[in-house]
Amino acid sequence: MIARLAVVAALAALAVAGAGIAADKEIAAPPMATSLRPLSDFAGIKDRKARSLALFAEVGKVIQHPRCLNCHPAGERPSQTDAMRPHMPLVVRGDGGMGATGMRCMTCHHEKNFEPAGVPGNPKWQLAPEEMAWQGKSLGAICTQIKDKQRNGGKSMAELVHHMAEDELVGWSWHPGGKRTPAPGTQAAFGTLFKAWADSGAYCPG
Ligand code: HEC
Ligand code: HEC
Repeated sequence: MIARLAVVAALAALAVAGAGIAADKEIAAPPMATSLRPLSDFAGIKDRKARSLALFAEVGKVIQHPRCLNCHPAGERPSQTDAMRPHMPLVVRGDGGMGATGMRCMTCHHEKNFEPAGVPGNPKWQLAPEEMAWQGKSLGAICTQIKDKQRNGGKSMAELVHHMAEDELVGWSWHPGGKRTPAPGTQAAFGTLFKAWADSGAYCPG
């Protein structure tokens, strides 16, 4: 009897430990913006710093969208869906963000979105490096990090503008397939706002 109780207790403890591993750190998905204001909306803000900050708040609607955040996690594991649930199955960064051996990202994520199974795809599908983690950070902290060459892959401001406006993996966020909500506006509109932010002094909030 006592032995049976001990087994039950051990199993319960295992279940709790298992749940702890599976649950990971839940991140509350920020509210999703559905559109971007045009650049002309910001022309009336005469103060350069105020205009720059307003522009960054606008591009923040894209940067803090689940489409970007899901792939810029703080830990080992991407998140998925609009609700930003921990990635199922469990996958980890592995070498260069491409997943562990046997669970490489490209095992499931192919060149294009695979609609029958709702699996997103892109030729460059892999996890953003840890120093580029955005989840759980304020927009001001993300802003400072994006400008920091130690943490942005050594990108100059011009290269950042180009990445935002032209990068094909960034662009996936506007045609994500499945039931995913696309990032607001268009990549071109986002790129235009981001460039205007850079040109207005690239001020960070906070
Ligand atoms: C499928 C995963 C994935 C998605 C989705 C994704 N990224 Fe990334 N991101 C990466 C990877 C990998 C890198 C590092 C390689 C590189 O610089 O191209 C990166 C790097 C970056 C960088 C340069 C480094 C930095 O953090 O300053 C920026 C800027 C960026 N991403 C913006 C975005 C934006 C904006 C979105 C959403 C519109 C987005 N990313 C969506 C994987 C992703
Ligand atoms: C065993 C298959 C499998 C592997 C391996 C895998 N994924 Fe996924 N991934 C999926 C499926 C299926 C979905 C779609 C789930 C959904 O939307 O309900 C998904 C969704 C995602 C999303 C969410 C996109 C969004 O915004 O909703 C991200 C980000 C992602 N995967 C990144 C990765 C990365 C990075 C790797 C490698 C480290 C990886 N995945 C490895 C199957 C896999």
